Formats: sequence, C-alpha cells, structure tokens
Amino acid sequence: MVAILMRTTTWFAALFLALLPACLFSQGSQDAAVISVDVSHPGAAISSSMFGIFFEDINFGADGGLYPELVKNRSFEFQEPLTGWHEFLGYSAKGLDSPKGELSVHTEAPLNQTNPHYLRPHAYEPGYAFFNSGFRGIGVEGGAEYRFSAYVRSAGPKTLRATITDESGHEIGSGKLEGFDDHWKRYETVIRMNATAQHGRLNLIIDERGSLDLDMVSLFPVDTWKHRPNGLRKDLVQLLYDLHPGFLRFPGGCIVEGRLLTTRYRWKNTVGDIEKRQTLINRWNDEFDQRPASDYFQSFGLGFFEYFQLAEDIGAKPLPILNCGMACQFNSSETAALNQLDEYVRDALDLIEFANGPVTSPWGKLRADMGHAEPFHLTMIGVGNEQWGPRYVERYKVFAAALKAQHPEIKLVVAAGPFPTGEPFDSMWSTWRQLHADIVDEHYYMSPDWFLTNTGRYDHYDRSGPKVFAGEYAAQSVGATSAENRNNWKTAISEAAFMTGLERNGDVVQMASYAPLLAHVDAWQWKPDAIWFDNLRSYGTPDYYVQKVFANNVGTRIIPVTPEAVGGLYTSATLDENTHELTVKAINYSPSARGAEIRLTGINPSGTIKIITLASADLNAENSFDHPTAVSPESSTLETKSGNIPVQLRPYSVTIYRIPAE
Ligand code: AHR
Repeated sequence: MVAILMRTTTWFAALFLALLPACLFSQGSQDAAVISVDVSHPGAAISSSMFGIFFEDINFGADGGLYPELVKNRSFEFQEPLTGWHEFLGYSAKGLDSPKGELSVHTEAPLNQTNPHYLRPHAYEPGYAFFNSGFRGIGVEGGAEYRFSAYVRSAGPKTLRATITDESGHEIGSGKLEGFDDHWKRYETVIRMNATAQHGRLNLIIDERGSLDLDMVSLFPVDTWKHRPNGLRKDLVQLLYDLHPGFLRFPGGCIVEGRLLTTRYRWKNTVGDIEKRQTLINRWNDEFDQRPASDYFQSFGLGFFEYFQLAEDIGAKPLPILNCGMACQFNSSETAALNQLDEYVRDALDLIEFANGPVTSPWGKLRADMGHAEPFHLTMIGVGNEQWGPRYVERYKVFAAALKAQHPEIKLVVAAGPFPTGEPFDSMWSTWRQLHADIVDEHYYMSPDWFLTNTGRYDHYDRSGPKVFAGEYAAQSVGATSAENRNNWKTAISEAAFMTGLERNGDVVQMASYAPLLAHVDAWQWKPDAIWFDNLRSYGTPDYYVQKVFANNVGTRIIPVTPEAVGGLYTSATLDENTHELTVKAINYSPSARGAEIRLTGINPSGTIKIITLASADLNAENSFDHPTAVSPESSTLETKSGNIPVQLRPYSVTIYRIPAE
C-alpha cells in the first residue's frame, strides 16, 4: 500500500514536472509569441563580410591606443616641437632651482628630411634630466619588458640614462643607452618594470657635461600582438579579434578628408621605415571646443601596412577609404580641381598595387620589403569618406573611370552623405542608382528610438540596385556629438533590434559597422564608442557585445521569419551552411519576460540548442573598468526533439538560438 502510494506520488510529481514548462508557457499565453521560421524556403546568401569594424584615429584610437608607443611626440614634429617634453624644476632653500641644462630643437643635418626636427639637450652640469609625459601619462605593467630606444648623435656625452617613475616619483625601471659617436645611429635596451604605473613618466638623464642629439625616442612594450616589434596593443587587438569581424574599414572617418587638403590622410606617407613616416596633425585635434586636444597628432607608426596586417590577423577583409579630392565638408570643404585629381587617382591605383601587386612591381616590392610578400587580397576601396553633392559625384566619376578600367575586380564604396534621410541622402542615392555604383555607405548617428522604429528600413530597397554598407552607426543616448552620450544597454539593445533588419536584408546590406570603435577615457573627443580603454586596461561596452554576438553568429543564408518586428519583439533567422545550424535571433524590448515558441518548418531538429543571451533588466546598465562584463553574453543549452521549441525571453534581452539543422 505504502509502495503504491509512493509510486502514485512519484507519478503525480513526474506529471506535474513534465507539465510545468507548458503551464508556465500557457500562463503567459496572452503575451506568448510564435516565432515562425521557414527553413523550407531559404532566402538569399548573406555576405561573408556582413558585420565588421570601422576604425578611425579618433579619441586617441591609434597613437595613445592601438599603437602602443608610450612616448608622445617621439620625433619632435608636433606643431610645438617640445609638446610632451618637460624639464625638471625643483625647489631648494634658495627658491626655484633652474634646471642643470637646456632643451632646444634643431633641424640642421637631421635624421631624415621628412621629420627634420630633433632634440638637443645640453647638460651644463652632470645629472641634467628631462622627461616625457606620454599619452596622458605612461602606462607600464610591473614585470613586463619595454624596449627603450632612440637615434642618437653625440660628440660629447657617451651615455643616456632612462628611468621610469610612477605617479609618486618612485623609480620602477631603468636602463641606459651608450657608446654614441657623431653619426646618427639607433640604440636600444630592454627595461623590465618592477611595478605598475598608470600615469608614469619617462625620465632621460645626461651624466656628463655637453650636448647630444636625439630623435625617435621610444618606449615600446615588448609584448605586443603577435610579439611584433612596432606591433599593436595586445588587449585591444584581442577585443577586435574576438568580434570575428567580416571587414576592417580604415583609416576613417573624417580623418581621411582632413580639415584642409594639405592635412588629408595620404597613405603613402604611412608606409616604409617608421622614422620616415611624416607626422601630421590629427583633424580631431581642435574639432570640438568642449574637448580640445592640442597634443593630438599622427605618428603613423600604425600605417597602411599595419592596417592590412591587422585585417589579415583578425580574419577581416580590408576596406581602405581614400580621399577623393575633398576636405571635410563640415570644415573647409576645400576641393581639388578636376584637373588636379591625378595624384589622388594615382594614390588609389598604387594602393591596389601595394596590396595585391606582384613583388616585382614597385609598390608590391615595398610590401614585400616590409615583410609581406603575399598579397593582402584587397577587393574594395572607398572613394571619399562622408561626402555628398555634385562636386563629389564629378570627382567620383574620374576615379571610377580610371579604377574600373584598370581594376574591374575592385568594388568601389561611395558615400550617401552624413544623414540617413532627406537631402542630400535622397539625391545621392538617385545618382548612385543611375551610375550603377557598387556599394553605398550610409551613416546614422540617431536616437535609440530611431533604431527601434527603423528595423524595416531595408525591406523595400531595390534588390537590383547598389548594395548598402551601413558604414557608421551608433544609437546616441542624448544626441549626435553630445559629450553626455552613454554606452548603455538601451543604446545597445536598440542597435541589436535594428541589426535584425540588416540581417533579414542581407541580400542588400552587404556590410555594417558600429562607429567609432575606440576611446581613451582621458583623451576622447566623441561618445559613444564601442571599446573604452585607459593606459593599461580596456573593456567592451554593451554595444560592443551586441556587435560581437551578431558577428559571431551571422550565418550564410537568410531564412524567412515572422513576426519580424511587432510589440517589442524583433527577430531574424539565418542558416549556417558550413556548421549546419539554424540561427534564430530574438530581441525582447520589454520590461517583462516573454514566453515564445519557435516553430520550425522544413527541419525537425533534435539535439542540443546553443543559446547565447545578452540581457539586463536595467536599460541604463553600463560596463566599466571595474565591471567590464556587467552586460555581456551568457551561454546555455536546451535539448530539443521537435521543431516546436518553447522558450522564455528575458526582460530586455537579445537571445540567439543555434539549432542543429542537419
Ligand atoms: O565616427 C565619427 C565621425 O562621424 C566620422 O569620422 C565621420 O565619418 C562621421 O561624421
């Protein structure tokens, strides 16, 4: 009897447990959504480079960021040649002590003609010291090694001592260069730090009377990405690598255009020996009165060779953007005459040779000499950045005539101006349709609501017209260029909702990238940004993680799904023909959990579904150095035996289901 009772109880318990998910599901059934995914009618192929990266040297993204040189103004070429360099002034019993020497900048018999300035410190007494303050301080890790190097010429002092001090002036590392003669030569030594400093200094000391000449003074981490000398900052590249981006757009952005044509980006000045790469003012130096950065220049230690190499390292297609003969239309709008465009077009043709040409060609040889005999497989080039108007179209035609004649294999990316609607957007699009342009770059720095209500933006685009590159977008929590903008979960989830629309229209939208990518917490000009860093640390924002989960789960073919965007539910589905998985993305933009059922037609899966969830009930949630993954992907699994899969979508969540689809 007892045994029967126990068995009955067990049976009731089992029945109760078996019904529990269904009860829970039907409890919320008035809200429960059916997500229908029709695998029997697969749609168009999705571009393999769908979700990628937009890199621009803004917010100290290159010098002071991805390019980890720790000495600011290493070649004394900033407008004020002593920017970043300081003498020690101390107090003694007699008052303010003058330094034991003097710094001066010279140009006669320079190291090279492109960077003609160099420093001549003169020690009136042994022990003359001066220092470099780095990019908002010099950040070094205890236990790590740094290569201290300089070009030196000296008929006098034969040694140059270097110490690194922390914020309180304690020495945490030291080294010495020695054996100089009266010819320019490069000297180096490796310094191991015995403590960490976020805002340290590099001090240089001359221990004999007299002067010497110094150029290209460098303190560079040994442990770079792939351990390359002149390599990139490891933690930042790792974040980019983790995205598995489809493409890398570089070097911008307005930086391509320059405020004037004389300060435009010229790729040829960014390749070859690093000491010969001509320093240039960064156009973000004085763009915003509220965020001036008079010490923002480009050393081009990160130049076009390094960009191509980075693209290759992270598995992304390279997409260089070139100046088309127009300076930034928000600044001078200076325009090269049509008969002066040869140099600009030549730059584009030579770039193709630099990237893809044989090692027997002049530019292909330079690539090989720099260490990459194999081609970089360039397939597309941007003609102009964010241009618009008839002057742009005239110049594009000159480029297109030359490039299409000589390189029909290269797709050209053209711009639709700075805004997503209205003029000049409409007239640019009608021009590009008439001219059968390859790919049109659209930019939208809009509110989170705009992103939520424009998920169907591409549903009605002409399928036979130019393809779309959503080249710069980011939800602005306050407004475009506002210094108050935040990278919070609201901006990120709105972008995720919008991205389901990009994915559903993957036959038209070939590429998409969030912008800007990087920002130094002590030196930014533009918010929001995908990744924030300081001199030692970095973290991805919720917006970064949205990019990551989309780029990591992109699929190869569009699969029809309904509903697409209804009542705060946004969906898309793709098939990955390589891994044989169906990927369903569901965004629940609502403060409540939502029961749903994924109903599959055309496959009857069984096995383990991988689930990736990005969620926060708090739309204001942000990541930070202390909580870098507060909003970040979580993984779980679900077993399924049928094509009707009940699921729970968490409040304000992005959920991705990878369903086995043999
Ligand atoms: O991403 C910041 C800037 O926004 C880009 O440089 C420019 O293309 C756009 O206006």
